[in-house]
Amino acid sequence: MADSTIALDRSARVAPIDRRIFGSFVEHLGRCVYDGIYEPGHPTANEDGFRLDVVELVRELGATTIRYPGGNFVSAFRWEDSVGPRDRRPVRRDLAWHSLETNQVGLDEFARFLKLTGSELMLAVNLGTRGIQEALDLLEYANHPSGTALSDWRIANGTPEPHDVRMWCLGNEMDGPWQTGYMTADDYGKLAARTAQAMKTADRHLELVVCGSSGSGMPTFGEWERIVLEHAYEHVDFISAHAYYQERGRDLGSFLASSLDMQYFIDTVVSTADHVGNRLKNRKKINISFDEWNIWYLDEHMAAEKPVDEWRYAPRLIEDVYTVADAVVLGNLLITLLKNHDRVRSASLAQLVNVIAPIMTEPGGAAWRQTTFFPFSVTSRLARGEVLRPSIRTGSYDTAVHGEAALVDAVATFDEADGSAALFVVNRSLTETQTVEVDVRDLGVTRVAEALSLWDDDVYAKNTLQDQNRVGLRPTPRASLADGTLTLELPPVSWTAVALG
Ligand code: AHR
Repeated sequence: MADSTIALDRSARVAPIDRRIFGSFVEHLGRCVYDGIYEPGHPTANEDGFRLDVVELVRELGATTIRYPGGNFVSAFRWEDSVGPRDRRPVRRDLAWHSLETNQVGLDEFARFLKLTGSELMLAVNLGTRGIQEALDLLEYANHPSGTALSDWRIANGTPEPHDVRMWCLGNEMDGPWQTGYMTADDYGKLAARTAQAMKTADRHLELVVCGSSGSGMPTFGEWERIVLEHAYEHVDFISAHAYYQERGRDLGSFLASSLDMQYFIDTVVSTADHVGNRLKNRKKINISFDEWNIWYLDEHMAAEKPVDEWRYAPRLIEDVYTVADAVVLGNLLITLLKNHDRVRSASLAQLVNVIAPIMTEPGGAAWRQTTFFPFSVTSRLARGEVLRPSIRTGSYDTAVHGEAALVDAVATFDEADGSAALFVVNRSLTETQTVEVDVRDLGVTRVAEALSLWDDDVYAKNTLQDQNRVGLRPTPRASLADGTLTLELPPVSWTAVALG
């Protein structure tokens, strides 16, 4: 007797998969760039100083589009400091993270790093301390082929081909009082609209992301989106969403249901954007770029990482070490992004290396996978074709933070080209294994090609420098397919992926 049932129907289509949903984020923050992806003295470093062991892990992670160079960092960044001969680049103070920025890695080097990882570049412009002209200058430097002052400067700096950056963020978290140059929605909406209009005059094919809210708990959430879009709607393509989750007060049940907040966030932004579009009589739809999402133990960092007076180079900042439970939540957040893929067309796991990241490094030493690496890499590898919305019948439990939450949550993908499918599913129960029967008759699949799960008797188990492979993927305890029914056994607090052919 099944505890839960799932029905998969190929007509329940959400959207064709845009690979940008598996994006990530690299910010000049702590040890993400310096002593992370870049460490010239490391035994695996290439001629640019990039660690090739990290490159291999990024490829395995399956991160597609990488947002760069911030984050809060971008809001006082002068992009031209970070190009040209390295020995002439200035050292600056980074106000966002109270660090020293040497500018040894800039746009041209980072684009070369992404060639190695096979990822696409997504750039953010500084609208905190700068404006339209600097955004246009960066666009010319990055994308214009040749024959202008700034494109010829790029060529002289050793990059003959334009970077051809398609997606651009119009600043970062401009609603946040912590942001250098933060603004009211009205001021930001006007600046973003004018910047977007100018950038699109230069290249009408750009895809522009206007800043939405830094979290669903922001006092201006909803109103911010409405006001900003009233100004910028016709000039932009995406509105951003940022969300970080953490377990508070050992309330694992609420934490495991974090994706309910993400769903609320998405619903609110979509309905607000559509309302503004309707009011403006504009039939274009504004989609969501969920360009920062992750688990982040922000409360602990706020308590432990007191403001410092000195200016440090590549300090160890916000280096969360993730647990099995964190990985299950991350897998569930990715399920939620896919379920909403008709409107969430791009997303960036924040961040990539060392800083709240799936990949960790030690200077001169190893690079390893955090627990959260696994659900991301497997979903990126197996999700193909179209996203299907499953019909789920399951039990529920009460949470202090999100109210009633389903025990089982899932999403599926189906690739008509080769008839393959994939199911991604979580069991949020703290104590009970869930036997789940999945009706796959409509998909015509007949065999389980792969079934991998992540769980552990210790839901707080982690991978660390000392024990880098403590947590990994395991074969799903039961994944059998007969007569159009896939039967799964899902351990408590687990994430599972099943590939079907
Ligand atoms: O990802 C870490 C920080 O979180 C980013 O710099 C900022 O945009 C957000 O507040």
